[in-house]
Amino acid sequence: MMRKLMAVGSLVLAASVVQAAQLGGRPAEEWVRTLDGTIRISSLKIDDVVAAMKLERGQVVADIGAGTGLLSVPVARAVGPDGRVYAVEIDAGFFPVISQRAEAGGVANVQTVLGGFDDPKLPAANIDLAFFHDVMHHIRDRGAYLETLAKYLSPAGRILVVDFEAGMGPHAQQPEMQVPREQLTTFMADAGFVQSADARLFSDKYVLTFIRR
Ligand SMILES: C[S@@+](CC[C@H](N)C(=O)[O-])C[C@H]1O[C@@H](n2cnc3c(N)ncnc32)[C@H](O)[C@@H]1O
Repeated sequence: MMRKLMAVGSLVLAASVVQAAQLGGRPAEEWVRTLDGTIRISSLKIDDVVAAMKLERGQVVADIGAGTGLLSVPVARAVGPDGRVYAVEIDAGFFPVISQRAEAGGVANVQTVLGGFDDPKLPAANIDLAFFHDVMHHIRDRGAYLETLAKYLSPAGRILVVDFEAGMGPHAQQPEMQVPREQLTTFMADAGFVQSADARLFSDKYVLTFIRR
């Protein structure tokens, strides 16, 4: 009994550490409802965002902050069975949801990865594309994260970021949860990357791709 209580206690503690270490964090089970809400999904233009990634069959992709795997599954289809998607999360509570979504979507090339707050802890260093969809503003030390991420990318590896334009989105009144494109470009430059594309799919969000300088 005591052992069970201690196990439950450490799970609760681990979950609250995960929430506290990111900006605007909340428990996975609560977040799942928001992330998979019908109105949100219909506003994301997922097919257009995946098209903007310009993926090729067989490529290796890291979906950083994958959440419920909304993007992981269509990206897995885009790279095909010879490609791979690492669905990186700091909250392992999302993993069963991602696995179920991959199975329901008929893809077997999505692998969940438990990342750290400043390090995706990817199992390979041949990533062709790493992307952040609605995630960058949750990361506390964006500059440090990007510098670490760079070590996992292949020489021609790219990074794509979808996030809110300055003063837009649900966190418009929280300056610490804003990542204006100018700030992102500076962090990217410090990590050795330069902007290569601007997909212009939304009026309130940017979709920017970066390559090595
Ligand atoms: C708003 S959700 C977006 C989920 C998904 N990308 C989507 O658009 O549906 C933000 C996600 O980022 C994750 N996250 C926050 N900080 C992170 C970090 N440092 N590394 C990996 N994931 C992180 C959270 O756990 C959460 O699932």
